[in-house]
Amino acid sequence: MLKGKDMLSIHDLSVDEVNEILALAKELKAKQKAGIEHHLLKGKTLGMIFEKSSTRTRVSFETGMYQLGGQALFLSNRDLQLGRGEPIKDTARVLSRYLDGIMIRTFGHDRVIEMAKYADVPVINALTDLLHPCQVLTDLLTIQEYKGKDLKGLKMAYVGDGNNMTNSFMYGCAKAGMTFVAATPENYKPDPVVTKQAQEDAKETGASVTLVTDPYEAVKDADIVVTDTWASMGQEAEHDERKKIFKPYQVNADLLKGADKRVIVMHCLPAYRGEEITEDVFEHYAPVIFDEAENRLHTQKAIMALTMG
Ligand code: CP
Ligand code: NVA
Repeated sequence: MLKGKDMLSIHDLSVDEVNEILALAKELKAKQKAGIEHHLLKGKTLGMIFEKSSTRTRVSFETGMYQLGGQALFLSNRDLQLGRGEPIKDTARVLSRYLDGIMIRTFGHDRVIEMAKYADVPVINALTDLLHPCQVLTDLLTIQEYKGKDLKGLKMAYVGDGNNMTNSFMYGCAKAGMTFVAATPENYKPDPVVTKQAQEDAKETGASVTLVTDPYEAVKDADIVVTDTWASMGQEAEHDERKKIFKPYQVNADLLKGADKRVIVMHCLPAYRGEEITEDVFEHYAPVIFDEAENRLHTQKAIMALTMG
C-alpha cells in the first residue's frame, strides 16, 4: 500500500497503513533478534539530509538501511550545496537520479513538502518544526509491546510544550483509536490546524483529542504519560524563559499519582532531567524509554521497506 509513497505525516496514512507499518516493524524486530536475514532493500541507497542535529535518527536510519541490505549516505547541510542556497527543488531532482529514498530532518515543514513534490523517490520526514512522525509511529509500537496490540481506548497524557511531538501524537493517537489529552500552558498549545485535523481523524476510530492546561487533569487515569523537551531545536534562545513558564508541567512522582497504577512514562529523548522530567521518574521508566529508543530502528526499517521496497 505504501510502495513509492512519501512518509511526511501520520495524517496522510490510512489506519491500515499505520497498522501495516507496526506489524512489519514487529516482524523485522523479531527477525533481527533471531539473526534471520531480511534484506528487503538489497542494493538500495537512502540519502539522509540533516539540517538539525541527531543521535537516534541518524544512527537508527543508517544501521537500519544496512540491516536491510542497502546503504545510507549521511548528508549534512554543512557539506551539501543546499547549505549554500541551492534550491530544495533542484536538490530533490538531482538526488532522485542517484538514490532510492530521501530522509530529511529540517526546520520548516514546507521544506519537506517541497522536497517530496520534486523528488521522484519516496521522501521520509525525520522531524520538522511541525511533526516527528517516525518517532510517534515508534511510540505506538512501544505501547503495543507494553499494553497489548489493540491500542483502542488507551489514554495517553502529554505534558509540556505543544510541539512537533505533540502534533504527531495527536495524529498518531487519532489513527490508533486512543484517548489523547495534552496539557500545555495556554500560549504553548499544539498547532491549531493539526489539532482540528486530528480531531477529524479521531472520528474514524473512536479516538479523542483534547487540549487542557492542567497537567493533573490530563494525567488522571492515564495509561501512558509522555513529555518532551521544553525548548526544541531552534528554540535554544528561549530556554531560560521557557524553564520558568513550564515549571508546573514537569513529569514527577507527584503528578504521576493520579495516573493508572500500571502507567508507563515515555520520552523521545534527548531528556533534560530536572526540567520536563525528574531524575527518579526517568530512571524508573528507563527500560521503557530505551525500548522506545531501540524501536526507532525497527519502525524505520518497516517504513523504508514499505515505501522504498
Ligand atoms: N528522538 C530523536 O529524534 O532523537 P535524535 O534527535 O537524537 O534523532
Ligand atoms: N521536540 C524536540 C524533539 C527532539 C527529538 C525537538 O524538535 O527538538
